[in-house]
Amino acid sequence: MNKEKFYITTPIYYPSDKLHIGHSYCTVATDAMARYKRARGYDVMFLTGTDEHGQKIERIANEHGVTPKEYVDEIVKSVKELWKLMNISYDRYIRTTDDYHVKAVQKIFRALYDKGEIYKDEYEGLYCTPCESFFTEKDLVDGKCPDCGRPVEKVKEESYFFRLSKYTDRIIKLLEDHPEFLEPASRRNEMINNFLKPGLKDLCVSRTSFKWGIPVDFDEGHIVYVWVDALSNYITAMGYGSDDESDFNKYWPADVHVVGKEIVRFHTIIWPAILMALDLPLPKKIFGHGWLIIDGGKMSKSKGNVVDPVYLCEKYGVDAVRYFLLREIAFGQDGNFTNEALISRINSDLANDFGNLLSRTVGMIDRYFGGTLPAEQKENALDKEIKALCAQTVKNVEKYYDDMLFSDALSEIWTFIRRLNKYIDETAPWVMAKDESRKAELAGVLYVLAEGLRIVSILIEPCMPNTPKLCRTQLGIAGEEAWDSAHTFGLLPREVSVTKGEAIFPRIDVKKELAAIEKEAEKKAKEAKKTEKKTEKKAEKENKEINIDDFGKVVMKVGKILECRRVENSDKLLVSQVKIGSEVRQIVSGIAKWYSPEDITGKKVVVITNLKAVKLRGVLSQGMLLAASSGDELKLVSVDGDIEDGAVIS
Ligand code: ME8
Ligand code: MG
Repeated sequence: MNKEKFYITTPIYYPSDKLHIGHSYCTVATDAMARYKRARGYDVMFLTGTDEHGQKIERIANEHGVTPKEYVDEIVKSVKELWKLMNISYDRYIRTTDDYHVKAVQKIFRALYDKGEIYKDEYEGLYCTPCESFFTEKDLVDGKCPDCGRPVEKVKEESYFFRLSKYTDRIIKLLEDHPEFLEPASRRNEMINNFLKPGLKDLCVSRTSFKWGIPVDFDEGHIVYVWVDALSNYITAMGYGSDDESDFNKYWPADVHVVGKEIVRFHTIIWPAILMALDLPLPKKIFGHGWLIIDGGKMSKSKGNVVDPVYLCEKYGVDAVRYFLLREIAFGQDGNFTNEALISRINSDLANDFGNLLSRTVGMIDRYFGGTLPAEQKENALDKEIKALCAQTVKNVEKYYDDMLFSDALSEIWTFIRRLNKYIDETAPWVMAKDESRKAELAGVLYVLAEGLRIVSILIEPCMPNTPKLCRTQLGIAGEEAWDSAHTFGLLPREVSVTKGEAIFPRIDVKKELAAIEKEAEKKAKEAKKTEKKTEKKAEKENKEINIDDFGKVVMKVGKILECRRVENSDKLLVSQVKIGSEVRQIVSGIAKWYSPEDITGKKVVVITNLKAVKLRGVLSQGMLLAASSGDELKLVSVDGDIEDGAVIS
């Protein structure tokens, strides 16, 4: 049988820092949808990845003293580890630094240029580097970036422009004629009224002021605007523009791009326009989810309010965290993250409602029947109602999942779980157990509970991939349960054999836990402050004006490198003997990546001579060689023409 395809994507994340629980939120929701669709028999393609180019990444890497690629490699490793920890079942991971993507984007850019969709002009405007977005004066809020509130920079450069303006009407029509294209509906009016009705301007799609990006292959010095690079990932990952476009032909157009609300604009205006310009089909849906809010603001490292998903998952278990994210926040709206809310969900929904139902059911089968139910079972008067509710629950849950309304789906499942708990209280099995003549009745009640739990274990699986197995092991069910088996109540063998196990969700001592979290948060805050101070100092150094007296404090002289060797056990450091007039000094420099000892022996260089001596890797350094760096390049500073070593620089 030929399966129907379902292509779903997350945004590709900026690897500018470790990911936080806000990023996990988006990815977990996408994963839940991918798992649900697989369970329903679709041929799912779930794409995620990282958006690795741009000025922001280049700057951060510079601050860390590494190349952009080295920097992103490190972060990408941690991103992949996080997705593994959180059970994210992606089918493909794209890095925009991947060779095939770079080539395909160059092809796309050239195709657009050849078609006259891109032209060259001069750009003058305002740029927000953290958001990698252009703005005009009137877009600004209080003179700052309207998206993140940080200062913008004036840029003026020769650039390529994409004829976005000519797509205004077609995109208005797209949003108006296809309400299903952008969900939730509330975001549509914002796009139409705030961005489209005023008319779109052509979009600047190349930069020349920095290097970390995909080069425009027919105009040296230009790199492709990072959003054109990033959005293209959805097609290049499927092989578009490569030798093998079979996946592209099979999976494109995407069924849904899941994105955060602040990037809906890029996905519902710029992306469709690019696709229209390329004569490609449009994605079927953009789902714009809300933000996970903490302390009243969108989580962000620079605001110091980031919550670490690794910490939470290791502490509470992945499924508890996934449950919380999907249950607490209506998908599409903003929602609050607090530790109190997380713990309270774990205690009430998971430990109390669900965990207890399982341990009570298994415990009673164990206690009253030695672990195996007898074949002879009698229906209870309430069973009809339970079965009807179960069927209705399955139906509603499917509808909610189809619409990506995970919170409603889980809420529906928990209503059924609570009904089963109430069923225990109403039927009072412990009373039946005292009466030998009611054994069949008792067995019937326990069967309904076990079968109810089997169906619950199927319904929660998209959201909580680990728990169903734990649950089924206790219920004596080996292997997978097909989704469709939830449609029939009674598929669990009558003579079910249970195995008592640990509580699947242990209760948490709220007070103790909050105190521990507080301590951890303080530790994190301290660390964050430290790094912030370091960067501040660096920024100060770069920006602060000094007077001539300050400058006069630094003594610089011309030096001649007599000999040079590598510092043992270091691949960064060289140690040079430098003649400065009548003295020879030993100086250690971190330049081994760019120079070999032979390269610089005999060179005249500039030395700071009144720097306090330090030991680097145990080697004394009595001064510093000056060097200029840009991106991943570095050059030693030298003097123009020949002059005696020892000459003073001023
Ligand atoms: O925007 N709550 O990357 P990004 C909910 N590279 N979602 C959040 C969140 C929070 N607190 N913080 C971040 C980019 N996100 C681009 C995407 S796609 C072609 C390029 C979500 O790392 C955010 O809304 O800044 C966005 O959807 C995603 O994380 C990636 O954000
Ligand atoms: Mg962003």
